[in-house]
Amino acid sequence: MSTLLFLRDVARSPLQMGAIAPSSRQLARAMVDHAQIQPGQVIVELGGGSGAFTRELVERHPDNPLLVFELSTGLAASLQERFPTAQVVAGPAESLPEVAAARGITRVDRIVSGLPWALWSTRRSAEILDALVPHLAPDGRLVTFHYVHSRALGRVAGMRALLDERFEQVRLSDIVWANVPPAYVHIAESPRTRTG
Ligand SMILES: C[S@@+](CC[C@H](N)C(=O)[O-])C[C@H]1O[C@@H](n2cnc3c(N)ncnc32)[C@H](O)[C@@H]1O
Repeated sequence: MSTLLFLRDVARSPLQMGAIAPSSRQLARAMVDHAQIQPGQVIVELGGGSGAFTRELVERHPDNPLLVFELSTGLAASLQERFPTAQVVAGPAESLPEVAAARGITRVDRIVSGLPWALWSTRRSAEILDALVPHLAPDGRLVTFHYVHSRALGRVAGMRALLDERFEQVRLSDIVWANVPPAYVHIAESPRTRTG
């Protein structure tokens, strides 16, 4: 059902979804492996979509608090029904500061992003990162993915530059071939302290 909902939203709003198919189990595993989640850490997932990453997070880290942002109200409702232990927000990732404050969340340790960065301008991506990164703990980590063809379009380099400005360490994983299309994971560690 969630796959159908996802594909319906892809057909209706391709510029919001930025994907032609739900992420594979292999990409979900790679994302969660690279997030290196420890017991008790607070996880935020951005763009939960079909729930591919949510499922991996809930199955492997059932006791960690998990806050999921998904812009599509239909997909958000489906995620909340399928993953009742997660806190699903039907709203934009950029609302993290207000949502976290309202829910008493003072620290975010891991951000697992399914957002379609490649569709956005550098400025929009920077604005979203700037709403999120200041909420990460000093040893926080953000993982996000890019399709291989985005690299040829220069989108991976653009995102890399934005991450390099905001994190001490940034690296790219090997290609996850078992995904449509194949994808990389960007791993960003230790947010830089911004001085203005
Ligand atoms: C590439 S898809 C989902 C990836 C997910 N891992 C999956 O396999 O289903 C991107 C998702 O991000 C959502 N999205 C787009 N912009 C968003 C925003 N600003 N805040 C939260 N979600 C957003 C879309 O509705 C879509 O479900």
